[in-house]
Amino acid sequence: MELLEPDLFGGLTKNITAEMISKDKKKDKYIDDTDAPVSKRHKVHKSLGSEYKLIKKIGSGAFGEVFVVKDRRDDQYYACKAQKVEESGGATLLFPEAKYLIRCAGDCIPRVKDYIQGTNYHILIMELLGPNLENLFKYCERKFSLKTILMIAIQTLMRINYLHSKLVIHKDIKPENFVVGYGSNEKRIYLVDFGLAGDFRSPRDGKHIELQKRKSLCGTARYASINTHEGHNQSRRDDLESLGYVLIYFLLGKLPWQGFDTKEKKDKYKKIEKSKKTANLEKLLEKYPQVFLKYLNYTKNLGFEDRPCTRDLIKLFQKEMHLREMENDGNFDWVLKRAKQVPGKRQ
Ligand SMILES: Nc1ncnc2c1ncn2[C@@H]1O[C@H](COP(=O)(O)OP(=O)(O)O)[C@@H](O)[C@H]1O
Ligand SMILES: [Mg+2]
Repeated sequence: MELLEPDLFGGLTKNITAEMISKDKKKDKYIDDTDAPVSKRHKVHKSLGSEYKLIKKIGSGAFGEVFVVKDRRDDQYYACKAQKVEESGGATLLFPEAKYLIRCAGDCIPRVKDYIQGTNYHILIMELLGPNLENLFKYCERKFSLKTILMIAIQTLMRINYLHSKLVIHKDIKPENFVVGYGSNEKRIYLVDFGLAGDFRSPRDGKHIELQKRKSLCGTARYASINTHEGHNQSRRDDLESLGYVLIYFLLGKLPWQGFDTKEKKDKYKKIEKSKKTANLEKLLEKYPQVFLKYLNYTKNLGFEDRPCTRDLIKLFQKEMHLREMENDGNFDWVLKRAKQVPGKRQ
């Protein structure tokens, strides 16, 4: 029965997974994890109950572990995000996450199926999706073509624009939190991980949240906006600035503020902040289309309550593709690589 169980891309042949694992064994925990059996003693089993069968672990982040599960009632596969209860003293970030996912339900946001409050774990059962953009970057030997990066920019901006239209900000935009669809949906990029999401307007009276200072860093330092480093609470502008750093990361393969080694986390964050503030973006991006620099300068100059012109930004990237006679056809580098490796797979 093993062949029927989904792997990383969903329905992908076994040998590709094996190849990916042997290449990336040490570097890529996620891919390594995909074939790791979940111990029968793992407490998630207990909290899941008898309706779901735990298949394997597919991801983990700062807050939870993500598994593939099979619903015994309909024989369908789902993703299950589990969060230990003790770690946060009875409450978890998973419940607000589920609420935001439901509120923002729509195209390319994972559908919520169930929420289980076990004694040891809280569990969110949702639509099963494919690998994240960081895994796919590794799969493509940490090189994305310009066409792939422009298509990523367009789709990820569409997701953020959609989220903002629901009056919600994500607050942790990074490659790991964008995943492609499962199986044949690998041309669609989804936004996941609403663990830090929040309102930028009150759902009651529509008033914009107030600027606060001296907050501790929320999100991921590598992609955090400069204002977030400075302790300001986040608003729409920060989602967009973080996306700018994601795009530079894909263009350059590495951000200038990566790899700082300090004993204290605080010192590391300070170094990252300084490097971000002093980075010569013009020089760093001189070899690349100006649209990326333009994007970043625009987002960095937005005010706390400003409504970003995200549609215009999308148009800028679309125009760049058009000028270069590139078709926005969803044939990302990973789609092409996989088509080559899986005989008979159509694009
Ligand atoms: N619905 C899903 N389907 C498939 N993989 C998922 C799904 N949700 C999350 N993942 C994977 O699990 C990883 C961790 O999940 P995430 O929600 O980001 O947890 P954390 O809050 O701990 O960062 C993600 O980076 C992604 O690769
Ligand atoms: Mg995450």
